[in-house]
Amino acid sequence: MVVGAIKTLILGADGMLGSDLCQVFPDAIPFTHGDLDITNREDVIRFIREITPDVVINAAAYTNVDGCEDERELAFQVNGEAPGYIAEACSYIGATLVHFSTDYVFDGSKKEYVESDATNPINAYGESKLLGEQEIVRHMDDYRIIRISWLFGMNGRNFVDTMLRLSGEMDTVKVVNDQFGKPTYTADLARKTQEIIDLEHGIYHVTNDGVCSWYEFASAVIDNVVPCSSDDFPTRAKRPTYSVLTNTKTTPMRHWREAVLEYLKEGQNLIL
Ligand SMILES: NC(=O)c1ccc[n+]([C@@H]2O[C@H](COP(=O)([O-])OP(=O)(O)OC[C@H]3O[C@@H](n4cnc5c(N)ncnc54)[C@H](OP(=O)(O)O)[C@@H]3O)[C@@H](O)[C@H]2O)c1
Repeated sequence: MVVGAIKTLILGADGMLGSDLCQVFPDAIPFTHGDLDITNREDVIRFIREITPDVVINAAAYTNVDGCEDERELAFQVNGEAPGYIAEACSYIGATLVHFSTDYVFDGSKKEYVESDATNPINAYGESKLLGEQEIVRHMDDYRIIRISWLFGMNGRNFVDTMLRLSGEMDTVKVVNDQFGKPTYTADLARKTQEIIDLEHGIYHVTNDGVCSWYEFASAVIDNVVPCSSDDFPTRAKRPTYSVLTNTKTTPMRHWREAVLEYLKEGQNLIL
């Protein structure tokens, strides 16, 4: 598919990933939460049928992992039911749907997960996102479900920025060293999304290359960090020990360390 010749609709366009998708797809129609609440089935179907895009990219979601434990119903509506409404509409007009899911659909008992591995979420966010995957598969064939992990990007609250802030506020920052995953730069992911649209339908695992713990991730950003255990930081939602997504379907992206360096440099340029 040639970008520019196709009509693309981006949902969640002002989110962290959505903002970078808008850069990569400059001709796309950007929809924010204010433009369309994806939990309103009637509106979703009406808007998509009126606009008749060739491709819908859904980057809208309820992404606060601990918040999902407290607001289960809302989480299941936004992350679970709504992707089904979008899929229904896409199927009706023959559009391709690109949707983003998460490493948290797995329980973390394996050291790494390929696309075909069995899912078994251990928190409400993961359960709601898994329902979203299932609803899409139930309604249509022409989907790309892209599972991703540990996002950082210029346009949203993220771990790198939190570390930079805490580093200035504290003598030492304690960060857990017993949860492992793959950090992913939203600018790289947005470019990869463009490539995946042209591949066959199915589930994809896409991350930057390289595995690390949150502590190792933090160490790439700040100097005054010390390792600790998850027991030192109880959270409302349980997190998998290993949420390492292995990509078996597309070419690998660059190492996360390289991506973090670029992100830090970009941030510096914005401040100067
Ligand atoms: N961040 C991560 O580390 C991570 C990891 C794995 C997977 N993912 C997945 O990656 C995708 C993008 O994540 P992100 O971090 O870019 O998310 P984000 O920054 O939180 O953006 C999510 C967007 O969805 C919008 N939204 C929420 N509820 C909506 C509704 N009912 N109707 C329409 N729009 C709604 C939000 O708008 P408002 O803010 O105005 O409500 C926001 O613009 C999501 O599918 C997420 O589950 C993220």
